[in-house]
Amino acid sequence: MASRKSGANPTLSHGAYTHCRTKIVDLRNLKLPMDTGADDDIGASFYTKYSPQVPFPVLADFLLAIHTLRTGLAPPVAFPTETVYGLGADATRSQAVQGIFDAKNRPSDNPLIVHVSTLSQLRSLLNRPIPEIYQPLVEKFWPGPLTILLPLPDPNPFAPEVSCGRDTVGIRMPSTPLARLLISLVGKPLAAPSANASSRPSPTTAQHVKEDLDGRINFILDGGPCQVGVESTVVDGLCDPPEILRPGGIGIEQIRALGGKWANTVMIQSHHHPPHKPSSSSSTTTNDRREPNLHTSVNGDIQSSLASTPRAPGMKYKHYSPKARVILFQPNTDPETGGQYIEKLALESSSSHPHIGLVTTANWTLFAGLLVSPISISTAADENDDDDHHHHHVALIPSFLTAGRLQVFFSSSADGKEAKTCTIYNVHLPTPAQLARHLFAAFRTLDHLSCDVVLVEGIPDDADHLAGAVMNRLLKAAELVI
Ligand code: TXA
Ligand code: MG
Repeated sequence: MASRKSGANPTLSHGAYTHCRTKIVDLRNLKLPMDTGADDDIGASFYTKYSPQVPFPVLADFLLAIHTLRTGLAPPVAFPTETVYGLGADATRSQAVQGIFDAKNRPSDNPLIVHVSTLSQLRSLLNRPIPEIYQPLVEKFWPGPLTILLPLPDPNPFAPEVSCGRDTVGIRMPSTPLARLLISLVGKPLAAPSANASSRPSPTTAQHVKEDLDGRINFILDGGPCQVGVESTVVDGLCDPPEILRPGGIGIEQIRALGGKWANTVMIQSHHHPPHKPSSSSSTTTNDRREPNLHTSVNGDIQSSLASTPRAPGMKYKHYSPKARVILFQPNTDPETGGQYIEKLALESSSSHPHIGLVTTANWTLFAGLLVSPISISTAADENDDDDHHHHHVALIPSFLTAGRLQVFFSSSADGKEAKTCTIYNVHLPTPAQLARHLFAAFRTLDHLSCDVVLVEGIPDDADHLAGAVMNRLLKAAELVI
């Protein structure tokens, strides 16, 4: 099954698995207890209480997935968490962890987060207490979308590939019961990055994982769509002041509210900055309003951030990108600016019938106020795309997706009436929580609808505890900020 090793990871020994029959194991009907505490072991009562809830063939697949994780010799297994789907392997075995890097084509210097199911499991791995400083975080946010950096235990039970040469290990206790059940039944901590192919948008459904990793892994455990939709917040409390290395499901203000040292928590800035172009719009309505500067509000001082070393190594890579070009509009940009930009893109497009994606959020109305003739998604899909999988993907976020047809006119023609038609696919996600939950799915859907450009209305990064994380992902995905 093992093929030649992948070029991206020259240190790896066995290479990617390439002939797997990737199977989605439907565990959506498993009714596990929600809101369990950080010490509760969901796995303890699985065979007596919960296993009869799923049909035997499904149970058999699940047990096989658990078995392959235990052997450490088989491909990693994808599983749901509250943030995004993870690609898990036994964190204590090198070969198992290497399988993750191979399946994702992940750069070999980007460390992995280790997932535990209970505090007692973590304590037994550490061989010493969890540093005092983390006490309030663990109490307040675990299980949940928070990853903390701990000093590497001595002796270190984790495979060296987990930390990639760092003297810390990132640990997280997910809140999704299925994730904790899996970890508990495997009986090992699971190293797990997001289960996308490297640089693609993170997967928030089992189908997204299949899109990216089909043939490269055997099992995708399906627990339904992820609730949070952006990854965990990665926090380093070992330094003073504490640092957020990656914004995520827990907001900086929630952490600062813990008080003490945490009150001074700072955000460490990422390295990928898309070019920033001031709006070329002729609109003057926003001139007297203070325009929030995206790079100041989201990224802090751009100069100092460029000078600093990336502390979360993942931040230096281009990330989260759909195939389409992403153009991000600063929060509070006038919708007309977006509308004018769509017309300009449609006219300049080399295609005779361009498809343009639009993600509207807090303020923009549908189609950024442009006059479009509404069309049904299936009409648009039938006419413009022969991708078989199409309807399936569109179905993922149906209630948020609208399509419309726009006529744009070339002013160069003699009577100014020479026209071109473009189709706009508008995903409307008005609240920060909806934007976080569905952003990656929106990117994937708009790709399937053959959009070659996606315009996104940004939101102020302090609009909500998830807003900073969403804007961080958007800035990384964006080719241009307007
Ligand atoms: O929500 C999440 O965190 C998801 C789910 C599956 O749990 N996982 C995830 O993993 O997003 P990944 O590999 O896509 O991102 C992990 C991030 C990367 O930016 C990585 O560089 C950083 O965490 N990281 C992990 N261990 C680290 C360490 N020891 N020091 C600094 N950064 C670390
Ligand atoms: Mg990732």
